[in-house]
Amino acid sequence: MRHFLTLKDYTKEEILEILQLAKKIKNETKNKIYKDYLPKQTLAMIFEKSSTRTRVSFETGIYQLGGIGLFLSSNDIQLGRGEPMRDTSAVISRMVDMAMIRTTNQSKIEEFAKYSKVPVINGLTNEYHPVQLMADYMTIQEENLEENLVVAYIGDGNNLAHSWLNLASKLGFELRIATPADYQVRQEILKNALEEAKKSGAKITITQDPKEAVKGATVVTTDTWVSMGQEDEKEQRIKDFNGFIVDEDMMKLAKDEAIFLHCLPAYRGYEVSEEVMDSSQSKIYEEAENRLHAQKGIMVWLDSQREK
Ligand code: CP
Ligand code: NVA
Repeated sequence: MRHFLTLKDYTKEEILEILQLAKKIKNETKNKIYKDYLPKQTLAMIFEKSSTRTRVSFETGIYQLGGIGLFLSSNDIQLGRGEPMRDTSAVISRMVDMAMIRTTNQSKIEEFAKYSKVPVINGLTNEYHPVQLMADYMTIQEENLEENLVVAYIGDGNNLAHSWLNLASKLGFELRIATPADYQVRQEILKNALEEAKKSGAKITITQDPKEAVKGATVVTTDTWVSMGQEDEKEQRIKDFNGFIVDEDMMKLAKDEAIFLHCLPAYRGYEVSEEVMDSSQSKIYEEAENRLHAQKGIMVWLDSQREK
């Protein structure tokens, strides 16, 4: 049985296989062909943080695959009142077929997975957001940008930046990350990515100059400067990220055919300008839609690995 906790645990071949499956199921869905890949299966969806895309894509996805999703907000289940993760996992996983969790520390999802009888999917932690990156790469594939791919990630060295590091280091593309000095990616995650990069041929650069990162890039991406749980730091962060907005001037430094991606929710006028969000280069809604298709690929693939 496999879990989907970080992209670090996956090979290039597995990542591409899941995306291939997602693409196939997307084509079927677009043609209104809904096959029961996961008949009568139940997906528990545990949320300790807010969500629009992750919730809707998993709940719709499992339904379209022939199963049902249970939305379990931590406010409404005993987890929120202090029931341990291990008991929550041991109990829920005896009743459902798969679980997806959005939580704070990665160690909490690891604890859940340790006691789970069913595959567990990371729907975002403080450290990683692997399901988002699957949708992002699916969008890159659809835009035919896989060859000579150069991704510039501008902004906070957060869960998104970490998952970009994981993905680039596995697939072997060029990734440039620009963050302010005090908001760099975690050193151990970078170190792991640089090790992997030696095998895959990925080129990873870290800088504090967003312009340097964007120059000649084929994908420009960013994320909120204030992640969930950091609301108290908002004022300070807005000051510290001065100069890191992805605006039209910044996009001009990228290749003409470059696209703009954002996992959303976006805060216009902060990490990205209104004009870039609305430009023809922006593929944010295609990317968001691909969350649905990527989730389905991940769930069907995990189901296929149960006996292994
Ligand atoms: N991108 C993303 O995960 O969005 P939600 O927080 O709305 O799920
Ligand atoms: N970095 C953001 C991503 C939201 C999808 C957060 O963790 O809040």
